Amino acid sequence: LPGALALTPPMGFNNWNSTHCRAEFNEAMIKGIADLFVSKGLKDAGYEYVNLDDCWAKPQRDAAGKLVPDPVRFPHGIKAVADYVHSKGLKFGLYSSAGTRTCDSVGMPGALNHEYSDAQQFAEWGIDFLKYDNCNNEGVDHMLRYTTMRDALQAASARTGRPILYSLCEWGSYRPWEWGRDVGHMWRTTRDIKDKWPIMLGIMKENLRLADHAGPGGWNDPDLLEVGNGGMTDTEYRTHFSMWSIMAAPLFISTDLRKASPATFAILSNREVVAVDQDPLGRQGSVVSSEGGRWVVAKELADGSRAVALFNESDKPQRITTAATAAGLPDAPGYRVRDLWRKTEVRSAGTLSATVPAHGTTLLRVGADDR
Ligand code: DGJ
Repeated sequence: LPGALALTPPMGFNNWNSTHCRAEFNEAMIKGIADLFVSKGLKDAGYEYVNLDDCWAKPQRDAAGKLVPDPVRFPHGIKAVADYVHSKGLKFGLYSSAGTRTCDSVGMPGALNHEYSDAQQFAEWGIDFLKYDNCNNEGVDHMLRYTTMRDALQAASARTGRPILYSLCEWGSYRPWEWGRDVGHMWRTTRDIKDKWPIMLGIMKENLRLADHAGPGGWNDPDLLEVGNGGMTDTEYRTHFSMWSIMAAPLFISTDLRKASPATFAILSNREVVAVDQDPLGRQGSVVSSEGGRWVVAKELADGSRAVALFNESDKPQRITTAATAAGLPDAPGYRVRDLWRKTEVRSAGTLSATVPAHGTTLLRVGADDR
C-alpha cells in the first residue's frame, strides 16, 4: 500500500459500541466527541480519527445511485460533519460493507458493485478512513471484494490528494492476517466484541495468537474498545485497555464521552499505556507464560525496554511473578521497573512480581540498568 499510513496502530473514536443504530448516533454526538477530543486532551494523547459506523445513510440510494446521508441524524449532510471534525485538527472516517447491504436490520446500502462511485463520493466528502464490513456479500470472493474497494479508494484519493486508511472488517473469517497487509492497514481478527468480561477475554486470547502478523503499516484489530460502557468494572476496563495496548491494537474509543466518568477518561488518557501501544518498533506483545490464570505478556519496545503485563484471569487475587530475562531483557545487574497505572518506579535485581486483583492487570515498563 502506498504512503506511510498506520506506522503505529490507528487511534480514534467509533460510535458503534455505544449507540449501535439508535437515534443518539447523530451529528450532535459526533461533534460533541470531536470537541471532547480537544478539550479533554485526548487529541494530544494521540486519538486522531472520529469515525461513523453503520446507519449514517438512508436505507435506499437516490435515483442517481448515490448514498444519501440520513436527514434526521445528519441534517447538514456528511461533508459538514467531516469539515467540522477537520476544523478541530482531527481526521474523519466512514463505514460501508462489502455487500449489497450493511449488517444492521435498519442498515443502509453496501458498496458491492458500487465500489468506484461510492469511494469517489466518500473522497469528495474528505474522508480519511473507511471501515469496510462483510455483511450480505452474496458469496462473492472475499479477495475480490476487499481488493476492489482498496483499488477504488486509491483511485479516488489520488484525485483528491487525501490518503484514506482502509480498515478490513471481515471478522477474521478468511484469515486476514495472512493477506491483509497487501490490502488494508488493519484487519478485524475476531467476531464482534461485547461489553462483557468473558467476550472481551475470548477476543483477547484469539488475538494474542496472531502476534507475528502485526507491524508498522498493518495491524491485528481485536475490535473497538468497550471502556466506559458500563458492563465491566474499572479494574476489568484497565485490563482491557492494558491488553489492547500490549497487543499493539488499534485504539478506538467507543463510549459516549459526553457521559463518561473521570475513571473512564483516566483509563483512556493514560499516556504511558498509550505509549506502549504506539511504540514505533511496532511489535505486538506475546505470551511469556500462562498458568492458573496468571498471564505474563511481553512486548519489545524501541528503546530496548519491555512492556510486561501481569494479568490475573482468575476470580481471586494472585501473586504473579516472572523474570526480566523471561520477558526478553538482557542479563543485567538490575532493572528499572515502572508501574504504568500506579505511576511508581522501583529497582529490581531481576524478578518482576505483583499481587494482582481478580481480573486485574499490572502493566510494567522494564529496562535494564547497568548501574
Ligand atoms: C458488524 C461489525 O463487526 C461491527 O463492528 C459493526 O460495524 C456492525 N457490523 C455494524 O452493523
